[in-house]
Amino acid sequence: MAGIAPSILAADFANLQRDVEMLNASVAEYIHVDVMDGMFVPNISFGMPVCEAINRYAKKPLDVHLMIEQPDRYLEAFKNAGATGLTVHYEACPHLHRTVQHIKELGALPGVALNPHTPVEALSEILGDLSLVLIMSVNPGFGGQKFIENTYKKVAKLNEMRKNGGYNFKIEIDGGVNVNNAAALTREGADILVAGSFVFSSGNPLQTIQDLKNAQEL
Ligand code: DX5
Ligand code: ZN
Repeated sequence: MAGIAPSILAADFANLQRDVEMLNASVAEYIHVDVMDGMFVPNISFGMPVCEAINRYAKKPLDVHLMIEQPDRYLEAFKNAGATGLTVHYEACPHLHRTVQHIKELGALPGVALNPHTPVEALSEILGDLSLVLIMSVNPGFGGQKFIENTYKKVAKLNEMRKNGGYNFKIEIDGGVNVNNAAALTREGADILVAGSFVFSSGNPLQTIQDLKNAQEL
């Protein structure tokens, strides 16, 4: 069964401590932290001080998704702000191998995210170095967007590459995840499901996180 990583992007920023404590009490395995710079993506979210504030209360690993240009400049700062995993975008890293080694040297788990148009084959030469591949199922920049159906095919292909190569990175899906697509994503090979608006816009986020788990058994 895939782990759940609620995205703090959809939380109430005026009540961050409350929302982080809610996630601590939930069945979620991770806390997904979306960092946006207004350059790589059209939106700005938050940076290191907010990550550090989340980390002060979080009892679950921070899965930090860097939607920023030249992420090498900030890897160490986000590690110091509490990141367990550091995920950079393939599209933002001309020297991806160097960036991945840098993340490892910092003692964080290296992840690489792919935009919807980027084929999974783009990572074929670096899969052995990764702890995580994040497949974007919406265009990065905003929560609350519609899931892109082509994602299933990408997950299945990446899962096949993982089997054939004997790799053990995790496959994470991010964007438009809900109880209607969770089971199919897990079936294709997803290990971690990110969910933002589906969790935080619901009347009962704790129950909704549990629902995302239960949906996978259907
Ligand atoms: C999108 C972010 C996602 C986002 C997911 O750019 O990377 O993590 O918060 O939000 P939902 O689940 O609302 O699509
Ligand atoms: Zn994300």
